[in-house]
Amino acid sequence: MIVFNANIPDSVIEFFGNYDDLPISFINSELRSICGINSFFTAQSEIGHLVKTIHANKNLLREPDRAEYGDFQTNRNLSDNVCKLLKSQKTSPEVIIEPTCGKGNFLISSLKTFENIKFIYGVEIYKPYVWETKFAILDYFLSNDYSILPEINIYHYDIFDFDFEKISSKHNNQEILIVGNPPWVTNSKLSSLGSENLPVKSNFKNHSGFDALTGKGNFDIGEYISIKLLSVFAKLNGTFAFLIKNSVVKNILLEQNKTKFQISNIKQFDIDAKKEFSVSVNACLLLCSMNKELNLTINEYDFYSKKLIREYGWVNNKFVSNIELYIKSANIDGKFPFVWRQGVKHDASKIMELEIVNGQYLNNNKETVEIENELVFSLLKSSDLKGGIIDKSRKYTIITQKKIGQETKYIKEQYPKTYNYLFSNIAYFNKRKSSIYKGKPVFSIFGIGDYSFKPYKVAIAGMYKTTTFSLVNPANNKPIMLDDTCYFVGFDTLMEAEITRVLLNKEITQDFIQSIAFKDAKRMITKDLLMRIDLNEIIEKTDFYELQLAIPMLNLADWENYKGNLAKLEYEKKQQYDLFADQELSAAIPISNASTGKKLTEYVSS
Ligand SMILES: C[S@@+](CC[C@H](N)C(=O)[O-])C[C@H]1O[C@@H](n2cnc3c(N)ncnc32)[C@H](O)[C@@H]1O
Repeated sequence: MIVFNANIPDSVIEFFGNYDDLPISFINSELRSICGINSFFTAQSEIGHLVKTIHANKNLLREPDRAEYGDFQTNRNLSDNVCKLLKSQKTSPEVIIEPTCGKGNFLISSLKTFENIKFIYGVEIYKPYVWETKFAILDYFLSNDYSILPEINIYHYDIFDFDFEKISSKHNNQEILIVGNPPWVTNSKLSSLGSENLPVKSNFKNHSGFDALTGKGNFDIGEYISIKLLSVFAKLNGTFAFLIKNSVVKNILLEQNKTKFQISNIKQFDIDAKKEFSVSVNACLLLCSMNKELNLTINEYDFYSKKLIREYGWVNNKFVSNIELYIKSANIDGKFPFVWRQGVKHDASKIMELEIVNGQYLNNNKETVEIENELVFSLLKSSDLKGGIIDKSRKYTIITQKKIGQETKYIKEQYPKTYNYLFSNIAYFNKRKSSIYKGKPVFSIFGIGDYSFKPYKVAIAGMYKTTTFSLVNPANNKPIMLDDTCYFVGFDTLMEAEITRVLLNKEITQDFIQSIAFKDAKRMITKDLLMRIDLNEIIEKTDFYELQLAIPMLNLADWENYKGNLAKLEYEKKQQYDLFADQELSAAIPISNASTGKKLTEYVSS
């Protein structure tokens, strides 16, 4: 039966079936003595409504859409298993806090599992769930014996306005358990739903040294709630146990070297969210002890087998995804000598991407395209990069510019068919929303420059889990282009590109990449990550004969030449850097120079 939009268990129906519309003070005190809940009813009319509904045995409305509340109720089996796990880790709380308690499954599992509970606090924004939680607790106490009844408060409240400080000061000498499963929704999803279920614009990340949250930046409500609770309770004794997305755990740990919460013994138990919640997301139980020494690393386990997967977090001020692998390869955490580039971006794939079918170009609208060949280049996407040698492609693209911002008017005169095709599809260009196209020539593309036209490229997919590098050779005497999901470095000679690829595919480089790449991330490989590979350090660890096994045509002169070019590049970069530093310094000096009379050399040495 459903009352107040909440499911009501049979035992509770039977219980209230024996009551008439009695005074609220009387019924509340009865209920307080049976199940510990303070202010079970908040208005006399609620009792009347409940009793009348039970008597009439009528069901009310079905549940509305609750997307804006990130509503994924934890099933009782999972909440039981989480509490069992906590107990096995010697958690014995006196105070339970469930900040968004939903239907109360974590509260019931806690009651079933822990013997020492003296206080329970639940907060929930959705009134029917507040009722359901109260009914579930009453149901529990109607059918279970207990020695000391805990004092229970279930608040119908918005967590963003709730004052947790009051609870923390009342229980600052007791063992606390913060347990639950905060909403699984991001602020950008909420704004797309037009929802206001958000904290008042907060700078909670800025607070801890991160970029300010302007309301534009995407963050998870669960992350906000976790940080809010940790900032209030981490200084108290107890345990923090939240079911959250893995990405939220990563963000909390990423901030931990700035927020410096007193949390230790940090563990992540990965759950199967598809099975438990019917959603395809990587999620886990985040577990840690509060008010202990500050830890910056986390052990990740499988929730079901309890098998250790990896340890990740901060090592020597670097955030890494696998500490064991990182320690083995940390010496190549440095700076890559060349600049990794992202491929071409046009945001008009329907007309800018082509295939050849029966000798004719076909665009993504499946229309035949008749254009000159000059501006058409082979195109590779992340899915084409599997670590091998590539000299052809499935796809083609139109390259309208040689560098960013170049006028595209020349196409009309030099390639009239291409111009006609682009012009007849001008609507696709005009509707591109990204601000990068604003004020630019109409057929502009991005991710284009001299580097795009280098004949040989070493490339890697940004969106896939493969971390091996491919060698991209020219096709039909033209350089092959990559799309913006890929990263690459361009070379003038095949040998330079081939040596670089082999060095990057060496076990030590691959271990290093695996040790800093986060598999859960949408874009696992990023430019920042690639720029951390210290090629010179890899060269130090590479012997000519080992390299020759991978590149049979390599001779010693090629290898020496390659190393020499790199050394020259490093030298030139250093010269430029010194020059720049000198300019900065001399620009800063005149005023102080005048006032102190110091010479440049004195500044440098002091
Ligand atoms: C992922 S569900 C989990 C419910 C419960 N913790 C569990 O484990 O079953 C998130 C809960 O947060 C509640 N919620 C969403 N926004 C809230 C807010 N601003 N204040 C309090 N509760 C909120 C939702 O109604 C929902 O019950």
